[in-house]
Amino acid sequence: MIAALVLLGTAVLGAASPSPPRLRFSFRELQAQHGLRTFRLPRTCCYEALLADEERGRLFVGAENHVASLSLDHIGKRPRKLAWPAPVEWREECNWAGKDIGTECMNFVKLLHAYNRSHMLACGTGAFHPTCAFLEVGHRPEEPVLRLDLRRLEDGKGKSPYDPQHRAASVLVGGELYSGVAADLMGRDFTIFRSLGQRPSLRTEPHDSRWLNEPKFLKVFWIPESENPDDDKIYFFFRESAVEASPALGRRSVSRVGQICRNDLGGQRSLVNKWTTFLKARLACSVPGSEGDAHFDHLQDVFLLPSRDRWNPLLYAVFSASSGVFQGSAVCVYSMSDVRRAFLGPFAHKEGPTHQWVSYQGRVPYPRPGMCPSKTFGTFSSTKDFPDDVIQFARNHPLMYSSILPVGGRPLFLQVGAGYTFTQIAADRVAAADGHYDVLFIGTDTGSVLKVIAVPKGGRPSAEGLLLEELQVFEDSAAVTSMQISSKRAAPVPSAAWRGTPTAPGTGRRARASSPAPRGASGGKT
Ligand SMILES: *[C@@H]1O[C@H](CO)[C@@H](O)[C@H](O)[C@H]1NC(C)=O
Repeated sequence: MIAALVLLGTAVLGAASPSPPRLRFSFRELQAQHGLRTFRLPRTCCYEALLADEERGRLFVGAENHVASLSLDHIGKRPRKLAWPAPVEWREECNWAGKDIGTECMNFVKLLHAYNRSHMLACGTGAFHPTCAFLEVGHRPEEPVLRLDLRRLEDGKGKSPYDPQHRAASVLVGGELYSGVAADLMGRDFTIFRSLGQRPSLRTEPHDSRWLNEPKFLKVFWIPESENPDDDKIYFFFRESAVEASPALGRRSVSRVGQICRNDLGGQRSLVNKWTTFLKARLACSVPGSEGDAHFDHLQDVFLLPSRDRWNPLLYAVFSASSGVFQGSAVCVYSMSDVRRAFLGPFAHKEGPTHQWVSYQGRVPYPRPGMCPSKTFGTFSSTKDFPDDVIQFARNHPLMYSSILPVGGRPLFLQVGAGYTFTQIAADRVAAADGHYDVLFIGTDTGSVLKVIAVPKGGRPSAEGLLLEELQVFEDSAAVTSMQISSKRAAPVPSAAWRGTPTAPGTGRRARASSPAPRGASGGKT
């Protein structure tokens, strides 16, 4: 289900108390009095990909065997939808491979990106046969177009996952797609992959647990750091099993940010067609306690909020705790300068299988691995010119030793024992008489959205989250699995659209699919 809500009015500020919310709204109240509109496409499910297109005033939705285009002003009004099923042969092959014909051997559209002025890139699982296509969306908002260009289908391997249960995270920059995804049928070959465009494809070293260890990719952002495009980097946010944890601790989840240079072309003799600038660091989000620190080590989602300093956006991240000891979720905020500093710090190093991970104390070759070849630093104009010792070092030291700490050193907001887990986050900067505030919308696994305001505490950058509202946007308590914020609709008023996932594949999915399409009410919420 997709829900859209227009939220009006500024927040009321007062004494900080993290929970319970000031106001709580049920699904019925939101629908009847506060402008919540919901929408379902008949006979389909799994609204994995959302793309808000402010210029055209449309919300594009990728679903099972379909792409839909909805009006951002009224998501239930005259929706356009396009069928994009997988061919029968692919469905049969998928079924022969042992997959379920009715729930897995379909085309689940996982990825939607604005491609150029007239087209969108869409990729789907294609019944375990990933495929991408260009969708014509037209030029003019008054005449919404939605057409599939079947003359130019692209291989979707390394772009969309094979398995509908998996997610893909990606960003499209300059006609090139950077994605984090499982690139094989078995779902074991995880890769950070560059494709499309003119340059050769690049990927991470396959099956090397030091590079990636069963990652779940969540978000990818392009974040330039100067006027010189040669310094541009792409950042990947994911969680994975910690290689640095001692085997005695078992599999431990750890949250990461990974970086690569946009101008990476791979190595010349080794790391050919692989990243030579890939580095990753741990994102820490924890609270000190008398019994030791409580770690929120399960990254769920990240939102990039632009700030006045264009090279330094803020990163709002939601985490849950993976330990069985306590049930909790937290929001931690990171600054890009702290992220960049971690990549300039010590490398993590392991001498051999029986050794511990330590901070590398030896000589780091020049140019320092992780730096982009750029005129800013002279001598090297391409990663293919990097000396062999640089390439070897990069291959063996993808992990940084120091963790990235959140702004203020602790979570901005947390909920423990609240009966739900945070799954998604979106943020909006709202102007107020005395400056501006960041308003956060946090989706949960029980179909609610929390509206939290970041209240400055003793001066920036430290702030504290104040829970204002809890909004039950899904009647059936389905998890919020995607969220888009449209701040342009009634700026600076945000509206948000998000979707629920079926709780049990096969049952919830079919029940949901057969329910009538548009429902809703209109109005604003104060
Ligand atoms: C956008 O890309 C598509 C697919 O490559 C192409 O057919 C179309 O002509 C392009 N449109 C513009 C306006 O460049």
